[in-house]
Amino acid sequence: MESVKFKQVVIAVLGFILLGAFVVVGYVESMRRIPDAKPHIVVSRENEKCISCHEQQSNARTVAEQWRASTHAKRGVGCLECHRADAADMDAFVHYKQTIATVVSPGDCAQCHPNEFDQFQRSHHAQAGKILGSLDNVLAEVVEGHMPVVHGKRLESPAAVSGCKQCHGSAVKPLLDDSGNKVYRDSGVLVLDSDTWPNTGIGRLNPDGSLGSCAACHNRHYFSAAQAREPDDCGKCHLGPDHPQYEIYRESKHGINFIAHKDEMNLDAHPWIVGEDYVAAATCATCHMSATPNQPVTHDVGERISWTLRPPISEKVDAVALKQGKQVMPWQERRSNMKDVCVQCHSQQYVESFYEQYDDLVGLYNYKFGEPATDLIKGLKANGLITADIAFDDKIEWTYFYLWHHEGRRARMGASMMGPDYTQWHGMYEVADRFYMEFLPEVREAIEHGHDGGNASGAAASQAMLDEIMARDEHLWIQGKVSVEDKAARDAAAEEFRKRYAGSE
Ligand code: HEC
Ligand code: HEC
Ligand code: HEC
Ligand code: HEC
Ligand code: HEC
Ligand code: HEC
Ligand code: HEC
Ligand code: HEC
Repeated sequence: MESVKFKQVVIAVLGFILLGAFVVVGYVESMRRIPDAKPHIVVSRENEKCISCHEQQSNARTVAEQWRASTHAKRGVGCLECHRADAADMDAFVHYKQTIATVVSPGDCAQCHPNEFDQFQRSHHAQAGKILGSLDNVLAEVVEGHMPVVHGKRLESPAAVSGCKQCHGSAVKPLLDDSGNKVYRDSGVLVLDSDTWPNTGIGRLNPDGSLGSCAACHNRHYFSAAQAREPDDCGKCHLGPDHPQYEIYRESKHGINFIAHKDEMNLDAHPWIVGEDYVAAATCATCHMSATPNQPVTHDVGERISWTLRPPISEKVDAVALKQGKQVMPWQERRSNMKDVCVQCHSQQYVESFYEQYDDLVGLYNYKFGEPATDLIKGLKANGLITADIAFDDKIEWTYFYLWHHEGRRARMGASMMGPDYTQWHGMYEVADRFYMEFLPEVREAIEHGHDGGNASGAAASQAMLDEIMARDEHLWIQGKVSVEDKAARDAAAEEFRKRYAGSE
């Protein structure tokens, strides 16, 4: 009896030990380090399958390698933490027994980064996909592009798919066949409509309803803050003839100092506070997003800018919202947020005086060119001298577009970020040339045509507007109507100039 009891105890103890061993082995198995990985990478067993198989796919190896180098890998955030989907999601598919989606939206990142998500969703960036119907869109869809209807479906314009939407964002959708069913590859991977994806536009409309793409700035699969602090990161979109912020930055002292002192910038620091972790130069992120001793990082890039330099006539950045009766951060607060960045490296007076120079340039562009040109073109349309309902069919509409959308923006943007060449030679000089040498002659031509074509009253109305504008002080010079005092001052300055240069010859 005794020995039987003893045996039972021994079996029970052994059983417990075995069970314990199973639990331990099971736990270790589920949290096993991935083979050949850096020792601190620990992810779940499901993730391990994704990683080890993808590492062997020649076309997808980069994904796993970049992921390994990321903070996410070090913190145990694996493939599934981002790619896992609900079966009901519009873009879900079953892949090696897991339900996943290829598109990882800001809504997916929000599980772990709710603050960045909220700030980004309320920003102008997140709204950038809603450009449909804008004047620029007429260019991509009608003027440059074409959207034919084939089998009852209107095709997208390639000019918009590969152009506008790669910066602004598409509306990502699964491809549907003629009967409206989703299409899958032989591997079971869901096919996304190639008119809408690949795309990492900043205001992308995602299948889950969230806006934008965090990968617009945080290139996958590194997802690094350091990389997003580099000016090149913003330069994918903020460049070119109509918003050359990248080129302006490269011209500015800030850009020059960034290149010269990059090794002092401490770009990998967490947190990265201007004035504490670095002083050598400011990057786009420094001024628009990153932390100061008084402000945390913001993912709403509008929180530090006071003007909008995009429209034909600049207004304060909160003006549209105020007109609509919406409550938003007032421009004064945004401006003081930016000044708080500047004064980490510059004196108060330096910064105040910079803002006076900037405001004056925006004011000059507005009253001398932006407002009169806008009034005149609206007048020509209202008075029936050019077609009102079709954009870009009259030459003067192109002239006007160059004036405000390209040259006028460049001048204002150059002044906002210390790029004098963009303010002057790519900016105000071209604005003036366009206004006096093309726009005004084309206004006169349209008036003449109206007259000859029997629209005398329309022509007279626009002529009256033109006369009123040309009588303004700032436009007298081109008509030779300069005051005696102005002429004397000009002549004296010219004489001084001649003497100075004669002396150095
Ligand atoms: C046994 C190998 C294997 C495993 C395990 C595996 N994948 Fe894949 N995966 C592939 C291959 C091969 C493709 C390409 C299929 C194709 O091109 O049709 C692919 C495609 C994908 C795509 C789609 C890319 C696209 O074009 O839309 C994603 C996303 C993806 N895998 C993520 C994962 C995740 C997350 C896991 C873990 C749950 C995982 N994979 C597990 C082999 C694997
Ligand atoms: C932090 C979130 C995150 C993690 C972790 C992550 N991904 Fe991704 N992955 C993304 C995002 C974002 C995209 C871009 C897709 C889109 O939204 O257009 C992407 C795209 C992909 C693609 C298709 C893009 C291409 O270039 O072919 C594959 C395949 C993929 N991931 C596989 C993986 C695998 C395998 C892992 C694990 C090693 C992984 N991902 C980990 C967020 C993540
Ligand atoms: C499951 C949780 C989880 C998900 C989902 C997730 N992250 Fe992270 N992320 C983390 C953790 C944890 C860290 C490390 C935070 C830290 O060290 O303070 C991190 C860090 C980061 C960093 C800073 C990394 C660095 O080295 O500079 C970025 C950028 C980032 N995540 C972006 C994203 C984006 C974009 C997505 C969606 C595509 C995403 N994350 C999805 C958990 C997650
Ligand atoms: C290289 C990237 C890029 C491409 C391509 C691009 N845009 Fe933009 N777009 C931008 C950026 C950046 C801004 C914001 C500029 C700023 O704030 O200074 C912008 C501004 C705009 C605005 C002004 C929005 C507002 O709030 O005032 C409209 C409208 C617009 N773009 C439409 C289009 C259309 C339509 C196309 C194609 C014909 C297009 N864009 C092509 C990057 C791009
Ligand atoms: C316009 C570019 C841009 C976009 C879009 C963007 N980020 Fe960032 N993000 C940055 C920059 C720049 C930093 C570095 C800020 C700093 O200096 O610490 C950063 C930092 C981060 C960090 C690290 C925060 C910290 O304090 O260390 C996380 C996490 C992050 N981003 C998540 C996201 C998520 C999630 C999204 C999408 C909802 C997103 N980001 C979209 C530019 C961007
Ligand atoms: C993928 C393209 C893309 C990238 C990358 C990008 N932007 Fe933008 N940004 C835009 C577009 C498009 C707009 C205009 C949105 C609109 O008006 O609808 C914009 C607008 C802005 C604005 C004006 C915001 C406002 O409220 O008026 C600022 C400031 C800005 N971006 C800064 C940045 C900075 C700084 C970075 C890099 C850290 C960056 N952007 C990266 C596309 C981009
Ligand atoms: C030294 C600080 C500083 C740096 C560096 C900087 N900016 Fe700016 N940025 C400004 C200021 C100041 C304004 C004007 C703010 C205002 O209107 O009050 C501005 C305005 C803008 C605007 C708004 C334009 C509009 O249409 O209203 C965009 C977009 C922008 N910057 C993008 C960038 C990008 C992209 C980079 C890097 C290539 C960059 N900035 C670098 C300070 C900076
Ligand atoms: C991280 C430090 C830092 C920040 C932040 C910073 N600057 Fe600068 N800034 C510099 C440096 C360095 C120079 C180059 C000084 C020189 O000329 O040697 C400079 C130069 C300038 C210049 C002179 C331009 C020229 O061509 O001579 C102006 C104006 C200026 N900054 C204004 C600003 C304004 C306005 C802000 C905020 C919107 C700002 N800075 C933010 C470091 C900074």
